[in-house]
Amino acid sequence: MTRNRQTEASGIVRLFIMDLSPGALILCFLLCSVAGQAPVISVEPRAATVRQGESVSLRCQVKTGAQPIQLEWTRANNNPLPDNSKIGPDGSVLTIANARPANQGQYRCMASNSAGSSTARAALNVKYAPKVRLTPAGPLRVRIGDPVSVECRATGRPNPKLTWKRQGSTLQLVTTETNNVNTIQWAVVRPEDSGVYICQAENNEGVTEGKVEITVEGGPGAPVASVSSTEMTAVEGQSVTIECQASGSPPPVITWSKLRAPLPWKHTVVGGALTLTSVGRQDSGQYICNATNIHGYSEAYTQMEVETPPYATCLPDQVRLKPGDALRLQCLAHGSHPIQFAWSRAGRASLPAGAEATNDGRLLIARVKLGDSGTYKCVATNHFGSSEALAKVVIRA
Ligand SMILES: *[C@@H]1O[C@H](CO)[C@@H](O)[C@H](O)[C@H]1NC(C)=O
Repeated sequence: MTRNRQTEASGIVRLFIMDLSPGALILCFLLCSVAGQAPVISVEPRAATVRQGESVSLRCQVKTGAQPIQLEWTRANNNPLPDNSKIGPDGSVLTIANARPANQGQYRCMASNSAGSSTARAALNVKYAPKVRLTPAGPLRVRIGDPVSVECRATGRPNPKLTWKRQGSTLQLVTTETNNVNTIQWAVVRPEDSGVYICQAENNEGVTEGKVEITVEGGPGAPVASVSSTEMTAVEGQSVTIECQASGSPPPVITWSKLRAPLPWKHTVVGGALTLTSVGRQDSGQYICNATNIHGYSEAYTQMEVETPPYATCLPDQVRLKPGDALRLQCLAHGSHPIQFAWSRAGRASLPAGAEATNDGRLLIARVKLGDSGTYKCVATNHFGSSEALAKVVIRA
């Protein structure tokens, strides 16, 4: 499009030069000089300040220059124009509706024609009320004597001023500030430091607050929980009791839970002791005693393992083969480890010659014979009992 017009324009110029009448020469002088001139532009306003949510228009004005002139708006940082901006039909007006903080920056208008191009810039400032972020966000539970620090970061234009206060007090706390991060900190926290702390960020556009609750635990009277044993084993079907004792003032309330699982439904809690009736394999895990009072809480853990006798199965439990085939049987067993496996053949004193049994429960005969037919038995044994499983092997020519 641009290219076509350009050739058209130079065509007209040539036409006038060929016709040497004086009037045409004057016309040529005018046209030719304009035709050779790059655009001269300006942007109005050169700098604009708006509040977040307001709208603003920037106009790119052409002072002189040979037509046709093409106008293009871009961001000075080469980012794309924001999606809340629009360019008017003739390309000269850039409008930003509902301005956002991120719209702040330089905008550039570029005008080009056949003779060259030129640019002009406008700076946009977007003012907005502060936004506050606290790290960590809290609520914080800290142990007496530990160090604590909370950072308050704020954005806003103009740059907000940051202050920390304790809720219920108007006193400004002494804090350290570097690069718009204002940090409240204690090298050694005391029980009386418990409370809600407020970081306030203020600029001309508004005031914003961030709050963090800090609870200092472990003062005199804080609970200390302990369990009768930290590791226990029980055999499937038994009942198990885990005692939890807790000191503290006022006397703490004891609750029991299981790590990453609900407590077994067959449980009772009496005076802090947890009893599990007729435990099963799935009851293995970590049990947590939690002692809580107004000064804090304390957790004590018991790891409980439920031991189970084996339960064996054969894979496959039936197989048909031809003489010369390979026989492969696997004995699988659930139950507490270690588990030992033993293969035998029903009604026979020993396994066929050439049979190979492995520690992990496999039985292998590389080339079976007709006489290897029969019932094979796997016995799985651990410290708590044993279990057997059968596999029927039929060999036919
Ligand atoms: C123990 O109790 C405290 C306070 O109620 C709670 O924050 C904590 O998560 C509890 N712990 C467990 C393991 O349930």
